[in-house]
Formats: sequence, structure tokens, C-alpha cells
Amino acid sequence: MPPFSPGVRSFFRAFGARPKAELHLHLEGAIAPSTLVRLARRFREPLFPDLASVRARQGAGDFRDFLALYRDVCRCLKAPADYAAVARDLVRRLSRENITYAEVYVSPAVIERIGLDWAAVRSAIEPVFLGFERASGRRIVVLLDSVRQWGPEAANRVLELHEGSPWPRVAGFGLGGDESSVPAGEFRGVFDRVRRLSLAPLVHAGEWGGAESVAAALDDLGPARIAHGFRAAEDPSVVAALVRLRTPLDICPTSNSATRALLPGERHPVLELLRAGVRVSLSTDDPGLFRTTLRKEFLAVARLGATARELEALLSNGFRGALRPGRQAARTRS
Ligand code: ADE
Ligand code: ZN
Repeated sequence: MPPFSPGVRSFFRAFGARPKAELHLHLEGAIAPSTLVRLARRFREPLFPDLASVRARQGAGDFRDFLALYRDVCRCLKAPADYAAVARDLVRRLSRENITYAEVYVSPAVIERIGLDWAAVRSAIEPVFLGFERASGRRIVVLLDSVRQWGPEAANRVLELHEGSPWPRVAGFGLGGDESSVPAGEFRGVFDRVRRLSLAPLVHAGEWGGAESVAAALDDLGPARIAHGFRAAEDPSVVAALVRLRTPLDICPTSNSATRALLPGERHPVLELLRAGVRVSLSTDDPGLFRTTLRKEFLAVARLGATARELEALLSNGFRGALRPGRQAARTRS
């Protein structure tokens, strides 16, 4: 790898102090490994007895292994207070990295599936987010989430919960999980309802699925943004559609390698997408599970050959892609 240019070196020297936006973070995936071990140890046969057991499963295996890891992490969350602990891990991470604007996926579908009450969990999380915002002047926006393989019914249940008692912090609704499980088209009705509720429609696509999965998401769901989407690079017509529709991608290079969405030895097409005119920003996805930071994501792209200008574009695209940009966005230009 050639050494970084002076411009790139100076970008990274200033990086820590720069205000930053992160648009793609899952709450459970932001759990600190030490918190995971503490919560797991309450069980007679803990799934994560020590930090080594967490490490052994970070970045080991493929997408199925990742989904199993995610499920096991969720199994350790047994009370609303556990979610509050994860939310505290998340805001500490935001402070450490000077992330002034974050959009965080919170999944009522997962929360109900593990037997917790959505309203109680929301009441546990909200004071953590609010306290962080008041103390720091930063902003957290929540994206409600459902799991693709649980089908439209689970997604509709999430919307029903939101309709029954809207949480003002929520600005969008997204689908995560296994994109190859249920075709995007089956969620058309769900996404019509999302728009009627004035929520931004979001979807994970082009992570495990190919460019055709991104095309189906664009055609069937009309998303305001696509999570990952990097497989669009396989088909120039899909890249052209992203450019024409101005659909941003929030790309998470470390996650893509850790889950083998990007095959070993394969070059990540993040820069090719940016150079083609796609509005790409960078995120960590599940920083607690992938042992990553936003700085590491930018370093990964710098190693692919990004110029200082391209790194700047990726940074400002975080604010440009925000659903509720506020004064945090203006601060990045100062
Ligand atoms: N949920 C949490 N992380 C995810 C990912 N990388 N892909 C799909 N769903 C997820
Ligand atoms: Zn994700």
C-alpha cells in the first residue's frame, strides 16, 4: 500500500475533532463487549462467559454466523434496563468519536420477539438519548426496524406500535436481516403505510443480495436511502438508477468484510460508486460486534486509494443524507 498523501494524512489528523454524522447503526450491535459479558454472566450457562468468547465470534464465519451472533446478543437482553445499558454504550461511542448526528436502528420486532414490552424499552432508552443530547448538543434520530425474514406481518406490527403511540424521535422505518428471504415486492403495502405515517422508507439491500436486490428495492419500495447497497456496483444500470434517483447508500466496509458479504480478496467498490456519482456515506453498522469505529471505516477507504477530496465528500455525505439535518450539519463547515 502506498503511503497516504499529505492531504489524506492531514484529513486523519483533524478527523477526531471534526463533527461527524453516522446514518447506519443498530442499537443491539453497538453493545460494548464488556457489557455483553456482564449481561451474559447472569445466566447459568452464559453464551458469552468472557471477552475471549465474544472475540472468537467477531468476524468469524459468514452471514448466517453473523445473524446467529446477533440473535445470541439479543438473547442476553432480558430487561428494559439492559437496553438502557446498551444505549449508554452507544452514546459513549458517539462522544468518543465526536459523532454529532446519528441515526440509530431500534427494532420493536426484535424487542417483542425476546419477550420485552416495546413501551417499557422505549421508556428506558429515551432518557439516555435525551440526556446525551442535552449534555452535548448532539442529535440522535431513531429508525424503527423490522426483520426481512419475519415478513410483512412483523413489519406491520412495528408500524402499528408506532401508530398507537408515536415516538417523536423516530424519522424512518427500515428493513434489516436477510434480504434474500422475502422479496421486496411483498413489502409494498408496508412501505405505502410507512409513507402515510410520514416516515422515511429505508431498506437493507445489496449486501448479501446482488445488484438485482438493489434494483428490486428501488422499484418496489422507493427508499429514501439504502443500507449497504454496495452490490449495485455489479450492474452499471443499477448504479445509474441510484445516481438518477439520488438515493444515498450508507456503506459499512468493515461489516461487509466481517460478514463475508464482501468475499476475501475482493475489492470493495465503495470508491467506484462514489466516483460514479452515488451519494455514499460511511457507517459502522454494528460497531460493538465488528470492533470498528468510524475512523477505521474512513481508513479502510483511504487504503483503497481515496483522495482527501473523496474522504471529505464521504464525510459531508453523512450530513447530506440525514433525515433530520439540523445545526449539527452546519457545524461541519466551520
Ligand atoms: N442487522 C444488524 N446488522 C445487520 C446487517 N449487517 N445486515 C442486515 N441486518 C442487520
Ligand atoms: Zn445494518
